[in-house]
Amino acid sequence: MHAVGIVAAAGSGLRLGADRPKALVPLGGRALVCWAVDTLVDGGVRDVVVAVPAAEHAAFATVLPMDVRLVAGGATRTASVRAALAAVGRRADAVLVHDAARPLTPPDLVTRVLDALAAGARAVVPVLSVVDTTVVVDDDGVVADTVDRAVLRRVQTPQGFAREALVDAYAWLPPDAELTDDAAVVRAAGIPVATVAGDERAAKVTVPHDLALAELQVVR
Ligand code: C5P
Repeated sequence: MHAVGIVAAAGSGLRLGADRPKALVPLGGRALVCWAVDTLVDGGVRDVVVAVPAAEHAAFATVLPMDVRLVAGGATRTASVRAALAAVGRRADAVLVHDAARPLTPPDLVTRVLDALAAGARAVVPVLSVVDTTVVVDDDGVVADTVDRAVLRRVQTPQGFAREALVDAYAWLPPDAELTDDAAVVRAAGIPVATVAGDERAAKVTVPHDLALAELQVVR
């Protein structure tokens, strides 16, 4: 199977409060995007396309290996992945879409996703159970209902797809649609999404506390 990786790295990282795009923020002395690309490669992905902020192409080219292709991302994550997908050649059977914001994702999670695709899944996401009591609140913030957490899952990346399924789903999606992940795009197109075990180390860096926790996990 020829798998191509897409890394969504075109976010601004406003919630992190950094002085640069989030994907260029250092963790253990290396930009988050470098960690994310390494995870894909170490897990068995041959080619990687990274969606970067249009104005930051040079800065990303400086930190990433020469054979990693860069494309200009869009205003939303959905637009960024759409742009990167256009750069994936037809020879690829599978596409794995990963967030630059999940730098410490272990490569064996990538391998699990690839294995599920090789076994016939057209779409697969890594998931974790929900351990907190989870509720629905009304407009005033008052608890309206408690959700059965046993059926809930937290969804991570990389998410894996048969290339044609992902391309078709994005072609079907309205140009200005904004969904929070790619599994939602293929589900909206009617494709079933399988799951594999996720990993707490694949946590997303969103706020400064997440980065501080990630720093503690990096072995120097
Ligand atoms: O903002 P959030 O952390 O949810 O973004 C998830 C991933 O999507 C990040 O790696 C971010 O760089 C990427 N992204 C993107 N293009 C955007 C917004 C976010 O590639 N316009």
